[in-house]
Amino acid sequence: GNHNPWWANAVVYQIYPRSFQDTNGDGCGDLPGITSRLDYLADLGVDVLWLSPVYKSPQDDNGYDISDYQDIDPMFGTLSDMDRLLAEAHQRGLKVVMDLVVNHTSDEHAWFQASRDPQDPHADWYWWRPAKEGHEPGTPGAEPNSWGSYFGGSAWEYDPQRGEYYFHQFSKKQPDLNWENPRMRQAVYAMMNWWLDRGIDGFRMDVITLISKHVDADGELPGVGRSTMSAGPVGPEGYSNPGPLCQDGPRLDEFLQEMHREVFDGRHGYMTVGEAPGISPVRDEFITNPANHELDMLFLFEHTDIDHGPESKWDVVPWKLTDLKKTLGRHQRAVAQAGWASLFFDNHDQPRSVSRWGDTSTDRLRVLSAKALALLMHMHRGTPYIYQGEELGMTNAGFTRLDQYRDLESINLYHQRVDQAGVVSGERMLAGLAAMSRDNSRTPMQWDDGKYAGFTAEYAPREPWIPVNPNKDQINAASQVRDPDSVFSFYQRLIELRHSDVLVSAGEWDLLDPEDEQVYAFTRSLPAEQAAGIKEAEGHKLLVVVNASSRPAKVPAQTRALLGGHAGADQILLSTYKEEETTASLLIGKLSPWEAFVYRL
Ligand code: GLC
Ligand code: CA
Repeated sequence: GNHNPWWANAVVYQIYPRSFQDTNGDGCGDLPGITSRLDYLADLGVDVLWLSPVYKSPQDDNGYDISDYQDIDPMFGTLSDMDRLLAEAHQRGLKVVMDLVVNHTSDEHAWFQASRDPQDPHADWYWWRPAKEGHEPGTPGAEPNSWGSYFGGSAWEYDPQRGEYYFHQFSKKQPDLNWENPRMRQAVYAMMNWWLDRGIDGFRMDVITLISKHVDADGELPGVGRSTMSAGPVGPEGYSNPGPLCQDGPRLDEFLQEMHREVFDGRHGYMTVGEAPGISPVRDEFITNPANHELDMLFLFEHTDIDHGPESKWDVVPWKLTDLKKTLGRHQRAVAQAGWASLFFDNHDQPRSVSRWGDTSTDRLRVLSAKALALLMHMHRGTPYIYQGEELGMTNAGFTRLDQYRDLESINLYHQRVDQAGVVSGERMLAGLAAMSRDNSRTPMQWDDGKYAGFTAEYAPREPWIPVNPNKDQINAASQVRDPDSVFSFYQRLIELRHSDVLVSAGEWDLLDPEDEQVYAFTRSLPAEQAAGIKEAEGHKLLVVVNASSRPAKVPAQTRALLGGHAGADQILLSTYKEEETTASLLIGKLSPWEAFVYRL
């Protein structure tokens, strides 16, 4: 429509600060490290930086457990380091978006500590419930309901001081905030305003679709006390899944609209993106429709679930290209009229895309598939997100032993599934971790081929907090920034194309050859009335074709028909092969492994 905000044309780069750049030799990345790499990011051409949490935190979940929203963790630096980062980023035309984690706080947050006293005004800021009737508080089986935590164990933790349990969907050091409490909500909005006034450009909102719980008419959680709702079936690991009853709850729209009024109304130039587990395409459209004053865009996870087994993500199953088309396509269509999409393969919770969707069996195929996947994702309609190292074709960690992992999810669930419930062998769980662990994307950024990949100094007093991937000798920024054939250079051109061609951001998306299991193809086009201002010579339609496999592929029928009378290297705007190679491929109707291109029709 006419709604054309700045972020529709932007590319976001996610930084996981702990793993980006260490400057003081303690083995952890820090804010001065990010500031020192801003020229690299400006050179890549991105528009926005999203920082995973750098607030004060006990670091139980690497900063997603915040004990003070208005301070920086000493491990990352100080508030004045943050101010300097903001100023230096803005000088280079880069916006900065911070992570907002308000489904839960740390158990060390002052609000939670105060809440442990039932007489304190904060008493109701979290979900406190008594032990199950007839059970001794704090004994096994006395938990208020059967819900399990996503990070292992019960979702309820007993606090002897209060004599009650608190609810935590994530670790027991991440108690869920009670959004039903209006004073709690006002405190969150005040904190958000404080950061925006300090100069940040928006928020990525952590599991924001979990803040409203599905309670019964009396406000009681499912399965708790006299609740009229069930907590759901108990699975083989001994718990039921809180997901269905905590996602997209009845008051979500109300809370997001209130937040919009209290924080964003009257502000300009900011952006918001919500992490959105459990959101259907229809709800995606509603939440991101600007007329509803909620959020600018959402991260949806349907496409990153297609290789998960029916029981858990650790039982990896082969994925099909048609499933990727279906899942991405559903969301493209959902927001075609109103609303907007986020485009991503990678983030700090996902394995590396080139290892997962691409091919790392040879270096040539790794480079080709990293480029092809980038082109596939970025050419959809929406705002693309690059996760640090993705622009270098960084791979999974390659860990083979449990002691190499640092992530509490990987470690806790290994013990729960292997040692406690015995639902899987240690060997199989290690294979699951190797494919799916969040640590795959959290190994240090590979800047060069030095001992610690340039992430920290060679003679630093502390080793990196998590092992560096030994493939840093082949895969690193220093060897790629000036190499025109590198993954990095390809990303640069892809970003440039978005910035220079309105079809890339605004054009309608239409899938071609939906049944083809090898080739992912679509068009981007603007109806004539919207194309006003585009030079006739430039045409109103782009064709995007990706051979998403390591085997040669036939150009499928619909794509072939569109290419019909066309040919000519000057119509190829970008390709993972040389232009003349792609022209030759089109002549014979056969694509080389991971051959992917954008063609102006
Ligand atoms: C989100 C974050 C993840 C974190 C979780 C709990 O999914 O992306 O890293 O562990 O929320 O905050
Ligand atoms: Ca450091």
